[in-house]
Amino acid sequence: MTLALEDPQLQRSAHYIDGKWLSDCDRVLDVTNPADGSLVAQVPDGRASDARAAADAAHAAFATWREVPAKERAQCLKRWNDLVVAHKADLGRILSREQGKPLAEAIAEVMYAASYIEWFAEEATRANGDVIPAPVPGRRMLALREPVGVVAAVAPWNFPAAMIARKIAPALAAGCTVVCKPAEDAPLSALALVGLAAEAGFPAGVLNIVTASRDRTPEVVDAWLDDARVRKISFTGSTAVGKHLARRSADTLKKVSLELGGNAPFIVFEDADLDAAVQGLMVSKFRNGGQTCVSPNRVFVHASVHDAFMSRLRARIEALKVGPAAQADSQIGPMINERAVAKIEAHVADALAKGARLVTGGRRLTELGPQFYAPTLLTDADATMACACEETFGPVVAVTRFTDEADVIALANDTSYGLAAYFYTNDAKRIWRVTKALETGIVGVNEGAVASEAGPFGGVKESGYGREGSVHGLADYQHIKYVCEGGLG
Ligand code: SIN
Repeated sequence: MTLALEDPQLQRSAHYIDGKWLSDCDRVLDVTNPADGSLVAQVPDGRASDARAAADAAHAAFATWREVPAKERAQCLKRWNDLVVAHKADLGRILSREQGKPLAEAIAEVMYAASYIEWFAEEATRANGDVIPAPVPGRRMLALREPVGVVAAVAPWNFPAAMIARKIAPALAAGCTVVCKPAEDAPLSALALVGLAAEAGFPAGVLNIVTASRDRTPEVVDAWLDDARVRKISFTGSTAVGKHLARRSADTLKKVSLELGGNAPFIVFEDADLDAAVQGLMVSKFRNGGQTCVSPNRVFVHASVHDAFMSRLRARIEALKVGPAAQADSQIGPMINERAVAKIEAHVADALAKGARLVTGGRRLTELGPQFYAPTLLTDADATMACACEETFGPVVAVTRFTDEADVIALANDTSYGLAAYFYTNDAKRIWRVTKALETGIVGVNEGAVASEAGPFGGVKESGYGREGSVHGLADYQHIKYVCEGGLG
């Protein structure tokens, strides 16, 4: 079960609470490789008592961490970033083994995680407030930015390094302390990152992590939700869970950031550069095998370019190499678990039953293993199909033809989600018209790779609220204190 790593210390199998690795538990959680079901590691299956101990430590550490000068906090973050970059190959091995994505993609994700740590190290020292011109004489008015307090960060399995880094780094930069829980399917990357943070010199209690299985996650997270000392919760995952967290947070009125499901439209207008559009779709759709919140879920192609677009897209999809992460030329790994593959199968079957046409793929690749699914292209999809209403979260492209700009915008917006949207056109006036009309938090215009530490990532409607990354990502971990000093006249 020990991974072949240059630095075996990176493989952690314990909670980290108040500066100590704690492995005492009544039950362990098996971490398995989605490519073949083999056991990768065992970590403690945490309980509410572990969550409370983590919150106690984070609460005690907040009193001193908030007073540490921003420059010193930034230096800790920079050391952490340097360690993550130095260990990127090992971190990539851990990530690809537990999550399934190809090794090169896993290493790219580690660098994506590091980019958030570096970004927020830099932002920490620029968290300026405002001096407000007073409307009456004899007063000084200020808006100070203060850390919100203890933050609970709950991360998903699809980007097990990047998502936890993009929550923890701004929290620590702002002067908050953190309790976090990685996803049950892929906790090892987060544990390794927390180990490197400890090595970087964050004081005991500032960063704590508790692992838990799917059935014990509610008791761990509820312990934080019920704790009035936890002042913020940041969650990436499903809309159903996000709504539950928002409701439960109301009792203690925590600040909440939710990065939830998406149902991204990808529109190819008749005047688009078709090669660029195909390339943009390949990049955005097949990243992480389609298991990405911003992955295009509904592809709308103008009828006049449909056939030309489809033949180019089909050739690119059929050239994709599917295989385990360990195979050097793999581009698409296994899906995370059996439930994920069953959902993809159900969406494809539903689409075919309702009149969609299969162009390529459309089956489990059982010869590789039970969790591999063929990159799939469907056309003649419509809004009645499950693949148009909910995230398929897999390597399936479902294409719908359109002829009219207003109609396609109405279709694109006809969803309760609003995370990302993409469109391809060479008409400058259309660019601004369509950008404005799309009801999403992120718009890719002639671009499929939108994620960046410098851009504000987040949605509208039932895709959540709050922004991660960018200057806005730091503000989500601060509140404003208005100070009015009188008697100066
Ligand atoms: C996600 O799928 O939740 C995030 C992906 C990204 O950062 O691009």
